[in-house]
Amino acid sequence: MDAIQVDPVFLATAVEIVLRAGDIQLARRESGFRVSKKGEIDLVTEVDLECERMCRAVIEERFPDHDVLAEEGTSAAPSRGSRYRWVFDPLDGTTNYAHGLPIFCASLGLEIDGRVEVGAIYDPTRKELFTGERGYGSFLNGAALRVSGTARLGDSLLVTGFPYDVHTQTGHLVEMFAGFLGRARAVRRLGSAALDLCYVAAGRFEGFWEQHLKPWDVAAGALIVEEAGGRITGMDGSPFDPAAAHLVASNGHVHTQMLDVIRDVRQKPQAFR
Ligand code: IPD
Ligand code: CA
Ligand code: CA
Repeated sequence: MDAIQVDPVFLATAVEIVLRAGDIQLARRESGFRVSKKGEIDLVTEVDLECERMCRAVIEERFPDHDVLAEEGTSAAPSRGSRYRWVFDPLDGTTNYAHGLPIFCASLGLEIDGRVEVGAIYDPTRKELFTGERGYGSFLNGAALRVSGTARLGDSLLVTGFPYDVHTQTGHLVEMFAGFLGRARAVRRLGSAALDLCYVAAGRFEGFWEQHLKPWDVAAGALIVEEAGGRITGMDGSPFDPAAAHLVASNGHVHTQMLDVIRDVRQKPQAFR
């Protein structure tokens, strides 16, 4: 599909919202916030909710007929069946944030007719604003992004993440992790899928894989990777589908090698289960 001409007000709005979320995140880090549990290890803070309310209010005021899909579902209005849907993660890296680890961001993508056309992700502690516009590239604080040129998995720095049901499928996740550890230069786990994707786009990582992701984790970041020249598929090599929850994002050059590792791990007799 070709790039469509998207009103610049949409990217400006996405940027404004993630920057405002970043301000809230930094301010509340100083003033303190309450943390509650959504599941055994899945946290939500007052800051997640405050950022999400802010986003919904801005969209409601400027584009009252648009839909919003956001993680915490704060006073979620029923779908309006709009062509436009904003997909928002108010705080990606909540566990890090709650523990005082400065690796977190806000992520906002706008889907038009089911395809993400613009995206913005802001890391307030590093003051890094990642943006992407389909067909027009992706940028870090205004400078064009390009994935790395590394061609060998053995020379690659990879990143992954673990879902909140990790306790019930530890063996499977550890096997996949071990498979990549045995092939890559090194593997990291940062705790923010949106930043993992931005870092692939920026050439800091050659590749990222994760399963059980949600649309708000990947909406903006997947576009930013693609627009930086990277490749995204499902973990089985199928075309990327944000609703499918699993993905491999890479610089393109090591993509097939990553898919080979996943296939090999899945075919091997399981050691950790
Ligand atoms: C999580 C982070 C983490 C990933 C999890 C996500 P949250 O999002 O992106 O890196 O491994 O799968 O759920 O809960 O911090 O918004
Ligand atoms: Ca998230
Ligand atoms: Ca979140």
